[in-house]
Amino acid sequence: MTRTVLVTGGAGFIGSNFVQMLREDRPDWRVINLDALTYAGNLENLTAVEADPEYTFVHGDITVAADVAKAFAAGGESGVSDVIHFAAESHVDRSIASGLPFVQSNVVGTQVLLDAARERGVQRFVHVSTDEVYGSLGKTGFFTEETPLSPNSPYSASKAGSDMLVRAVHETHGFPAMITRCSNNYGPYQFPEKLIPLMIANAREDKALPIYGDGMQIRDWLYVRDHCEAILAVLERGSAGEVYNIGGHNEYPNIDIVRAILKHLDKPESLIEYVTDRLGHDRRYAIDARKIEETLGWTPRYTFEQALPMTLQWYQDHDGWLQNVRSGSYRDYYSAQYGA
Ligand code: NAD
Ligand code: TYD
Repeated sequence: MTRTVLVTGGAGFIGSNFVQMLREDRPDWRVINLDALTYAGNLENLTAVEADPEYTFVHGDITVAADVAKAFAAGGESGVSDVIHFAAESHVDRSIASGLPFVQSNVVGTQVLLDAARERGVQRFVHVSTDEVYGSLGKTGFFTEETPLSPNSPYSASKAGSDMLVRAVHETHGFPAMITRCSNNYGPYQFPEKLIPLMIANAREDKALPIYGDGMQIRDWLYVRDHCEAILAVLERGSAGEVYNIGGHNEYPNIDIVRAILKHLDKPESLIEYVTDRLGHDRRYAIDARKIEETLGWTPRYTFEQALPMTLQWYQDHDGWLQNVRSGSYRDYYSAQYGA
């Protein structure tokens, strides 16, 4: 069945991986990408699809109803059948510095998008959220879909707010929305402010690798391709109104991740520098993904031991991409066209 899918935030890390996967795995679907090209949006992530006639880029902001209308209009007469909503401010440290942009894009933007999608009778809406809405775990236990929301950072609080708005539009109007909550992703095209690409980039330049606090915080790492496949499974087979946790049972303390990166790159551990801890730093995230595994048949295909070397190799092979992002010149790629 041909579908026209509106992806928001498709120029970011996960969104750009998802757009590329859709064009490869669902070649008869059309894809519209609505992205504001914030600092985290990079059209160099999408060079593989930019000339594809079934792919359309719309430069616009999800908080602006006219921009959202323009993206829906790109669906033409048959309209947009589905929405996959990635667009968000996504970095915890930035949210600690200033929470307002997070409320604007993540909360207000989600409501603007939901209103537009509901008015136009969209058939499926997948809201891409995060395990961080559940807060922090102790040494044992896992987040299930029933774990109460207890966000600790302005980022996770704004994502929890958006989740509640998605839930409300389903409960109130019967709008066919679903929510996914995934653990930490890694892989190609991740902006080097997040742990893994930052450490890769710094290590390659023999710069210090800043570890917050004692480095014993635990994250549950999932390769981005596995996340994208899980989202596609929810789009195609998920039930309206449901929440699906996504994770791969790949729990590691941050210090182990950093040591593994240094080992792969043959760099010394003396590059590690312990720095002041992040404020309100969540200690541990871990996902119970049995619901999506049992009801939708999704399981991760990659272990950390397989996909970390693949990721390191990708950054080695895409030195130009990394340099453009690190220097800021990636913004020149589109500023002439879009004035962003
Ligand atoms: P990212 O920061 O790399 O990309 C976000 C994209 O959204 C960028 O292209 C940016 O330009 C765009 N954007 C931001 N505000 C916008 C706005 N107002 N209007 C239109 N576009 C806007 O983020 P990511 O890491 O790819 O995360 C994507 C989604 O997945 C987010 O919703 C995030 O909460 C969620 N998520 C991320 C992870 C992770 O580990 N990165 C894990 C679980 C869930
Ligand atoms: P991050 O990639 O920012 O993801 P999140 O905060 O959403 O989990 O950080 C992952 C972990 O790595 C988190 O515990 C914070 C830690 N961290 C560092 O120790 N040093 C760093 O420079 C960064 C960016 C993160």
